[in-house]
Formats: sequence, C-alpha cells, structure tokens
Amino acid sequence: MCHRNAKINREAEITRDLLIERAREAAERAYAPYSGFKVGAALLTANQKVFSGCNVENASFGATVCAERAAVCAAVAHGERSFIQMAVVAMSEGQPRLAHPCGICRQVLSEFASPDFLIHLLDPDEGPLSLRFGDIFPLAFELQ
Ligand code: THU
Repeated sequence: MCHRNAKINREAEITRDLLIERAREAAERAYAPYSGFKVGAALLTANQKVFSGCNVENASFGATVCAERAAVCAAVAHGERSFIQMAVVAMSEGQPRLAHPCGICRQVLSEFASPDFLIHLLDPDEGPLSLRFGDIFPLAFELQ
C-alpha cells in the first residue's frame, strides 16, 4: 500500500519545511544512548503554536517515550488539544533516516488528530513526504 505525498500547496510546503526544521532540532536533543536512533517531532496546533518532543530512552527499555508522544504531551500540558500537522525527523549515525510513527504513537495521536491531520516525514532518498493521518491509521480504538 502506498500513501506517499498527499498533495499540499505552496503555503503548506513552507509550514512543512519549518516543522521539519524544528523536528530536526528536537532530534538533536534526543536521549537515545541505547538505540542511537534519535527522533524529533514538531507539532503544529490550531492556534499556530509549535510544540516539539524527542525520544527519551530508559535502561528499562519499555519505559522509553517516543518523540511524537513527547510532543503531544508538551502541547496538552500547555492547553492545546487541536492539532493540524506534525513533522517527524529521525537520525542515526548522524544521518537522516525515514521513520514512520509507531503504532502506539498513532493511537495516541488519534485521540486529538482528525483524518486530515498531516504527518511530514523526511525521506533521505526522496525528500519530504506528507501522509494523511486517516490514510495511515484508520479504525483507531475508541472507548464507546
Ligand atoms: N521512536 C520514536 O521516537 N518514535 C517512533 O515512532 C518510533 C521509535 C524511538 C523510540 C526509541 O528510542 C528509538 O526510536 C528506537 O526504537
């Protein structure tokens, strides 16, 4: 299944590039001594604020927090619950790597993100790609 590059206009491209830059900065601050895989996320809210997060690993591996969830927690802690777009940048051995958000992060995002929420990733071979949340995470669990 291919969900590559949702069509976005010029204005959205500028926002995407800004978010990718903020995600890259956050990735540099990641605490990833166990995997060496540094991830940064930058989340744009409906109020035009940007919250970033990075992965924070732990010696008890299961206690690790992903970058995307860290960004969601930062936004919610500041009173923001309406999310428009997010960029995710992953780095390993100093090189950008393509990394799709894990399943747990998708479920966490589903609490706040609409199907049109855009996730921008950096593919080192093909450049930025933008995915529509509804395409990559249909049928989220909901507590009825
Ligand atoms: N990681 C993220 O930060 N986001 C994801 O969506 C997947 C994985 C982190 C967790 C761990 O610190 C490292 O990447 C390797 O799994």
